[in-house]
Amino acid sequence: MLTNIKDFQSYLDTYQESIDNPEKFWGAVAEAFTWNKKWDSVLEWDFTKPEVKWFQGGKLNITVNCLDRHLPERANQTAIIWEPNDPNEAVVKLTYQELFDKVCQFANVLKNNGITKGDRVCIYMPMVPELCIALLACARIGAVHSVVFAGFSSSSLADRINDASCKLVLTSDGGFRGGKTLALKAIVDEALLDCPSVEKSIVLKRTGEAVTMQPNRDLWWHDEVAKADTHCEAEIMDAEDMLFILYTSGSTGKPKGMVHTCGGYMIYTTYTFKNAFQYKEGEIYWCTADIGWITGHSYIVYGPLAAGATSMMFEGVPSYPDMGRFWQVVEKHAVNIFYTAPTAIRALEKADISYVEKYDLSSLRVLGTVGEPINEEAWHWYDDHIGKGKCPIIDTWWQTETGGFMISPIAGITPTKPTYATLPMPGIQPAVMNENGQELAGNGVEGRLCIKFPWPSMARTIYGNHERFRNTYFSAFENKYFTGDGCKKDEDGYYRITGRVDDVIIVSGHNLGTAEIENVIDEHKEVCETAVVGFPHDVKGHAVYAYVTCYHTPDNEEDLRQEIITLVAKTIGPIAKPEKIQFVSGLPKTRSGKIMRRILRKIAEKDTSNLGDTSTLLDPGVVETIIEGAL
Ligand code: WT7
Repeated sequence: MLTNIKDFQSYLDTYQESIDNPEKFWGAVAEAFTWNKKWDSVLEWDFTKPEVKWFQGGKLNITVNCLDRHLPERANQTAIIWEPNDPNEAVVKLTYQELFDKVCQFANVLKNNGITKGDRVCIYMPMVPELCIALLACARIGAVHSVVFAGFSSSSLADRINDASCKLVLTSDGGFRGGKTLALKAIVDEALLDCPSVEKSIVLKRTGEAVTMQPNRDLWWHDEVAKADTHCEAEIMDAEDMLFILYTSGSTGKPKGMVHTCGGYMIYTTYTFKNAFQYKEGEIYWCTADIGWITGHSYIVYGPLAAGATSMMFEGVPSYPDMGRFWQVVEKHAVNIFYTAPTAIRALEKADISYVEKYDLSSLRVLGTVGEPINEEAWHWYDDHIGKGKCPIIDTWWQTETGGFMISPIAGITPTKPTYATLPMPGIQPAVMNENGQELAGNGVEGRLCIKFPWPSMARTIYGNHERFRNTYFSAFENKYFTGDGCKKDEDGYYRITGRVDDVIIVSGHNLGTAEIENVIDEHKEVCETAVVGFPHDVKGHAVYAYVTCYHTPDNEEDLRQEIITLVAKTIGPIAKPEKIQFVSGLPKTRSGKIMRRILRKIAEKDTSNLGDTSTLLDPGVVETIIEGAL
């Protein structure tokens, strides 16, 4: 049973059932899917190891559920609408039949190039239909995809390729993004200088720019497709076989390859897509995220397609050719459900309101947001100007690690409150914890957000490093998954996410690890030591503030700043560029040598009235100097 939430009372009843008897609940949901063999047990779990297994013994292929099983009733329904970067270029619409054929054909391309079940395939592509096809083609034959967002640098790409020992890279000559083109193939070429596991790359022609094709390694996408048959049986997978790896930043320097598996991920993303958005047959759904992030995996590709929806993908950016683009696209395709990030809303809110008023937005029924806490002003602007006060806003809180929505309103059913993610999805059991590890039961509490019971789409491990998985998520609070977020639970039991409580900064909805940025800045020959924190930013939510000590007083601070910014952009990617770089003579450290980021965060926030206890500092004087020089 996929949907039975009709009103608020039925949400409450469904939630209660899901908590009272999770196995019965998820077993019933799973019945709505196509399995080659049913599961032997719904759930086995132990958070101390941690080990979580859903639908063990079950056999399936997620692409059968996203494609084959829809063909009898919706072969001619549009599965994917692709809106290009350039509004004058032709839209591409793929029906379920066409998508099915293309996925099978590309699955054969993968096979023809030696890819088999379990092999890792890195995908570094722009937002074109072939990206969606590539993910599904991997899943069709049981290959594990590892999508790397096409804004990452060559060295970030190389790190991710090497971490998973990918055998193949799928890319394109270039990509269009607003007024710019990205030289993706050139970036891949640079990365591959350092990636011994990669045997081949397959290159899609998108921008037509000149690229170097290395003989015996690089193949053209169109040549390979021309040779491939459109029939491809789906590989039968165990429910707990790996479906994909997706990297996310962590508190230490190295990105974590989160591992998601086939069965639970499919069921949970589909269930939450249908229910949270209250998706209705035939509606046009648009999630503006890039498929390079979990939002795109779960809520552009897998969830919507398994639910038989029409899912739109957009190649461009909200500001191109002008700040009205999103609204122009909503009108053009009569979009019913629109899902975006608070950072985009804040940027668009600053543009002249005529960019919104020019377009007919009456097709919209539901709005969504994701990625970071949405501030009250942005929430109201979205509600008033985009939803015209008639569209429920679902503020969906979740993570790369959780695979799907965790806390979110059910559109039109859960009464919303601005800035609140509201209530848990069925099956999700949050716990608010204090710093001593005690659960703060009841309402009107504030603390760290944990989850105390497994849900089907949770990540199972960090690729190649289960110990890190345990340490990061299951060691801070006994027998609980720790999210890294803080939250408030108000008198009505509604959750409001207050932001990260660890060393992760969310910039424009993108996760960045402070250590990762520090490591890069420290590589500059003049830099001695760096401490990076986040500070509130109007549009980006948070931005990067770097405190840098140098071996010698810099001759020209501005030049050095530019060099550092370029180094970060080149090593990690433009999203990680520091907004502010303050050169300091020393960092505030404890006697044991630990940098007191709490103090640096306050200085960056310009809130120095109460710096808390500084008595444990080795040299309290350093704080005064930093405050004086603050940017
Ligand atoms: C972190 C996860 C899940 C897809 C996008 C980000 C923050 C996410 C919300 C929200 C407040 C949010 C959290 C979370 N976050 N959604 N609706 N309200 N905060 O995935 O890159 O794994 O980042 O994003 O801090 O831990 P991600």
